[in-house]
Amino acid sequence: MNKQEKIVNMFNNISGTYDVANRVLSFGVDKSWRKDACDKSFKFYDKKEIDTILDVACGTGDMCEFWDKRAKNSKILIKEIIGVDPSVGMLQKAKEKNLVASFVEAEAKKLPFKDASVDILSISYGLRNVIDRKEGLEEFYRVLKPGGLLVILEFTKLQKASIASRVRDFYMKRILPLVGGILSKNYEAYSYLPNSIEGFLTKEMLVSELNEVGFTMKEVKGYSMDISTLFIAQK
Ligand SMILES: C[S@@+](CC[C@H](N)C(=O)[O-])C[C@H]1O[C@@H](n2cnc3c(N)ncnc32)[C@H](O)[C@@H]1O
Repeated sequence: MNKQEKIVNMFNNISGTYDVANRVLSFGVDKSWRKDACDKSFKFYDKKEIDTILDVACGTGDMCEFWDKRAKNSKILIKEIIGVDPSVGMLQKAKEKNLVASFVEAEAKKLPFKDASVDILSISYGLRNVIDRKEGLEEFYRVLKPGGLLVILEFTKLQKASIASRVRDFYMKRILPLVGGILSKNYEAYSYLPNSIEGFLTKEMLVSELNEVGFTMKEVKGYSMDISTLFIAQK
């Protein structure tokens, strides 16, 4: 099994307990980050009718649900919301929720969609798991319409050893594997999270990769002392 297959397999294994573990471990604060990401994107896109929103690495469907709710809140009509993920287990959980969305099994680097067919493409806490990230970002660029938005929520590597980074490190390296491990009975999966952040990019590095692919940055915003960061980029 290659590295990418191992990651997808790990998500298959924890899919049954993923939602409970997520809510407990994030204390629900991720909800405000997701809500803000949707609202800011709608503000930038500035359209009352949107054809397609694609959520890549959709997992159990959280972002799809937020896109639907926040659009209704802003009286925006979305014709279709599609969630994409290579983990059959995570997709099964998403499908059980009867959301206003459809779900497709696919990887970030090979999206089964036409060129320039998507208005907004989101990926929340998923980009770290995409091993062939450059190919993934190029694929996002391909499927987006000109002027379309790429919306990324991610835990990036913190550059300086600030108080925030120490608190986050302690939480992610000590508390999270323990609590996540107990809830999912899979300690390894929850130890993967801090390691994958360490191996990921800083904000600045991700912005530079997005620029290289051709995107123009519209927003980079850190939440809760930069624990999580929102990136909005335009094609
Ligand atoms: C931490 S979960 C995030 C799920 C969801 N977006 C959320 O915000 O809760 C990461 C997801 O990335 C998916 N994933 C892993 N490798 C991927 C890839 N190469 N392309 C697309 N998704 C991938 C996993 O299956 C998993 O569902």
